[in-house]
Order: sequence, then C-alpha cells, then structure tokens
Amino acid sequence: MLTYLLLAAIFLLHQESLACPEGTIEGLTPDVCYFFSVKKADWRDAETECISYGGHLASVGSAFENNFLQAQAKKAFSNDVTYYLGGSTQYALEIFNHIYQWAWIDGTPFSYQNFAPGQQPGKYQFGYLYANIQSGQWYSDFNLTQTPRYYVCRLPNGKVDCDHGAYYYLNNKCYWASSGLTYSEDTQSCQNNSGNLASIHSDLDNNIVTLYSDFNDLESPFIGLHQVDGKWVWLDGSTYNYSNWEDGVEPSFPDTMCVIMVEKYWAGGGEIACEIFPEFTNAGVCEKAVQVTSVKHVSEMRQDKKLRISREGLRRRQEKKIATKKGQKDFFLQNRK
Ligand SMILES: *[C@@H]1O[C@H](CO)[C@@H](O)[C@H](O)[C@H]1NC(C)=O
Ligand SMILES: *[C@@H]1O[C@H](CO)[C@@H](O)[C@H](O)[C@H]1NC(C)=O
Ligand SMILES: *[C@@H]1O[C@H](CO)[C@@H](O)[C@H](O)[C@H]1NC(C)=O
Repeated sequence: MLTYLLLAAIFLLHQESLACPEGTIEGLTPDVCYFFSVKKADWRDAETECISYGGHLASVGSAFENNFLQAQAKKAFSNDVTYYLGGSTQYALEIFNHIYQWAWIDGTPFSYQNFAPGQQPGKYQFGYLYANIQSGQWYSDFNLTQTPRYYVCRLPNGKVDCDHGAYYYLNNKCYWASSGLTYSEDTQSCQNNSGNLASIHSDLDNNIVTLYSDFNDLESPFIGLHQVDGKWVWLDGSTYNYSNWEDGVEPSFPDTMCVIMVEKYWAGGGEIACEIFPEFTNAGVCEKAVQVTSVKHVSEMRQDKKLRISREGLRRRQEKKIATKKGQKDFFLQNRK
C-alpha cells in the first residue's frame, strides 16, 4: 500500500513537472511552452519581453507547428488579425547580393516557410515577420514601421536564472555581454559572473552567438577561443571541434591571441587587436550553462532584468579618443587577403 502511494505521489509529481506553467500553452512537445501576449508591442520590444520570460519570439519549424500556433492565436487574439513571430531580415544570418535573408531570432534554421506572395526581401530591405490569423500565412513589415501587434513567445518549460542577458533554450545557455576593455579583461569579466567567453561547437551555437550579438549591438565581439602552445583552446576547456573562420582559413600561428566574430565568421587577432588597441570590439560574448526549474505560473518566469548591453567597453574606448581610421581593421586582423 505504502509503495503504491509512493509510486502514485511520484507519478503526480512527475506529471506536475511536465505540465507547462499556467498562463502558457503546451507546445507539440512538453518541453516547449508558448506565451500569447496580452498586450501589443513592436517586434523588438516583443522579443525583449519574450527574453525576460526566458524565451524568444516563436520560431516555426513545420506546417504542423504553424497550424497549431494559428489555432491558438485565433483564441488568444480574437479581436485582431495579425501577430508577430520570431522571423526577421533585420537580424539575418545570410546576406546574398545585399539581400538580407530571413532568420529566426532563436537561432533555429529557417527551413519551413509559409509566406504570402510578394513577401521576400529586396536589396537592403529589413523587415519583421508577422502572421495572419485567418490564413496562417506570413507577411513582412518591410518599412520597419514598428507597428504594435500581438506576439507569441516560445518559452522553456520553467524558469531560468540568467541574472542578466538572454537564455537560449536550444543549447541551454545564457548569454550576456562582458564589460572589459581588452580580451583579458573581457575574459575576467565573464568569469566574474560565473561564466566564460562563449565557446561554439555547432552551427546552432554559432547562429545564437551571432544573433545575440546583432540584437544587442555588439561589434566584432570576442569569443572564448585562443591558442595555447600552438593549439586552439576554448576558455571553458571544451573541445575545439567546430570552426567558422572567415574565408575558411585558420589564422596562422603563433601570433593569434584572441578571436572575434565578424557577422557570423571568425577572425583571429594579434596582440594589438586583443590587448593594446581593440577599437573595433565593444564587448565579448559571455555564456554559462543553466538549469530550468519548474514553476506553477508564467508570472514566476518573468525576470525584470535589463539586457546587459555592454556600453562600458565602448565608452572606455571612446574615452581614449583615438581617431578611427578606416581600413585599420584589416591591418590588425591577421590572415586576410
Ligand atoms: C509602410 O508604412 C506605412 C505607414 O508609415 C504603411 O501604411 C504601409 O502599409 C507600410 N508598407 C509596408 C509594405 O509595410
Ligand atoms: C573581476 O572581479 C575582481 C574582484 O572582484 C575585480 O577586481 C575586477 O575588476 C573584476 N574584473 C572585471 C573585468 O570585471
Ligand atoms: C564538440 O565538443 C563539445 C564540448 O566538448 C561537445 O558537447 C560536442 O558534442 C562536440 N561536438 C562534436 C560534433 O563532436
């Protein structure tokens, strides 16, 4: 009898921890919960609000998911006809011929599409993706009118404590910006907050660091790769098993002291770019792994945190009042043709 009660209790606890918090709707799998906004916001503010709940504006990976969100949106947003999803050309991962390609802000590949005709971007057209409640088709705000709309956040099932910065449920990490001036200070700044400069092991990690940096205006940020005795080493001790060097070329040994991201590509820097005069880099990208803890209600997930967009490094660089000369960047970075 006791065993039976114990098992029943464990079963109930288990069930409870699986259900999405009240105020959210369980997705197609129980680890994904959707939050349908109660207010309207422009796309950037909507994404910022989703981040404060530990998620991002929803990406959509299949027709099944799109139909699911459409059906739920009809109930939640019954007094309106459109809602934002997490797609944009503003925060792109690929640019072909000056055409910024659609990307999901959470880093997921933009594979499934359901655009109404005529919604693909032209040259230098920046837009945000919204869906129509009646048709489920996608449209774009190409002139960046910042129209307030309802929106859908895709959240983890529970609360994450990032302190500051943003959580990415796809690789279970928090990202934030460091506040040092040089590579060693930025390294220290991340470690001071129990993290490290970011390590990257897949296209997904790379997308996430790129999108995080872009959304937060980090310029050519440092990542956690450096050299020790002529070998590439991540600061967090993980294996160097993925790379995305600019032009596919690894910087030459032995002068590379740090690595920066230029859009989604990596470039090595020597002592000047890393320690003496890192004028093109306004921060490093810090990361740490975190746990999701279960909560009962979506309000417990919300963290009133400011996204720490590190202006500190930028400000200190500006204080140095060093004239920026165009073209110096190429000079400082190694191995560029
Ligand atoms: C551009 O913005 C105006 C309002 O400023 C709006 O009326 C128009 O529909 C928008 N065009 C597109 C293509 O979104
Ligand atoms: C890191 O923490 C130490 C000790 O609190 C402090 O002296 C140092 O200035 C911090 N460094 C950075 C870059 O935040
Ligand atoms: C690369 O290394 C990381 C961390 O050590 C590990 O999590 C990941 O699975 C590895 N990836 C591949 C493709 O081997």
